Amino acid sequence: MANEEILHLSSFDDESLNAAFAALEQRARADAAALDGPESMEAFRLRWTGRKQGRLNDVSGWLKAAPPQAKKSVGERFKSLKDLVEGLLDAAASSGPTDAAPAAEAIDITLPGTQRLVGAEHPITKTLHEIVSVFAALGYSVGVGPEVETDYYNFESMNFPPGHPARDTQDTLVIANQEKRSLRDRLLLRTHTSPVQMRTMERQPPPVRIVIPGKVHRNDAADATHSPIFHQVEGLCVDTNITFSDLKGTLDHAMKALFGSAVKTRFFPSFFPFTEPSADVQISCIFCGGKGCRKCKQSGWIELLGCGMVDPAVFAFAAEKQPAYDPRKISGFAFGMGVERIAMMKYGISEIGQFYAGDMRFLGQFV
Ligand code: PHE
Repeated sequence: MANEEILHLSSFDDESLNAAFAALEQRARADAAALDGPESMEAFRLRWTGRKQGRLNDVSGWLKAAPPQAKKSVGERFKSLKDLVEGLLDAAASSGPTDAAPAAEAIDITLPGTQRLVGAEHPITKTLHEIVSVFAALGYSVGVGPEVETDYYNFESMNFPPGHPARDTQDTLVIANQEKRSLRDRLLLRTHTSPVQMRTMERQPPPVRIVIPGKVHRNDAADATHSPIFHQVEGLCVDTNITFSDLKGTLDHAMKALFGSAVKTRFFPSFFPFTEPSADVQISCIFCGGKGCRKCKQSGWIELLGCGMVDPAVFAFAAEKQPAYDPRKISGFAFGMGVERIAMMKYGISEIGQFYAGDMRFLGQFV
């Protein structure tokens, strides 16, 4: 609409003034409602408040032209039209989509996106699962037990004699204020996963084939290869006619599955209170293939886990709850391995502390 159409004023009587200003107001509101960005706002501003061609400027001409008795009513109407236009401009400037600032904030699709890190198994968890799967494939089930354990399960039922050095607080982390309890009920942080052997046998009669992954605690100083908290996987197999050959065959298979089929195993005499006979399992050095190197101290062999035939004294404790554990009728083997040690070998890690430091530069290598 051209300015002239509404700016034409035939007379200064109230009726004409009302009609002319009402038309101007309506036009201003319609113009403001159509604003859709910084450019149209600027056009609005010029059209209405421009010094030379703005409508308000034109309308102010009516003031001069008005006869003296009409000046007041023209002035009042002019003032309220001016207020309206300024109010509309302010409102448009502060409301979102027509504002210049939000336009600048609009999504820039050329910017790189927010990177979200994808979680992955920790190398210890990964190794633990790998070990467990090797035995799961042989028909072993998976069990767990408590980390806060009693002296009975951790030591007594595992055939540790009363004064055994492992029971000393030098080696074992014990729960405070247990003096009132009998020795067998005193709580401690389990030093190995072997107590879950007894918990399993108390719950179910033979046959048993189970692996038990878990966290264990020892009162040890940390160094490059030791941590006071670490992980083990325990194994227990009990049935009729289980022999040392079964133990050898099972662990030889497991080591080949974990380290590759070229790996050889050998069983070295050892001692554990809960197995008889006991053995340490050594594997041919995976770094030099058995020729002898720094890692295997030139021996060609690396010691990896403890094992043995379940001691009849352990079966006797189990038989208190499950009479079927009669060492004259059944036999079995057990083994226990350190997960950190196996993970360090598999991945060539020389500092055990790397597993616990939470450094993404280290952990990111195992995704
Ligand atoms: N519990 C033993 C340890 O922590 C390992 C082991 C388990 C040895 C089962 C023999 C049989 O060193």
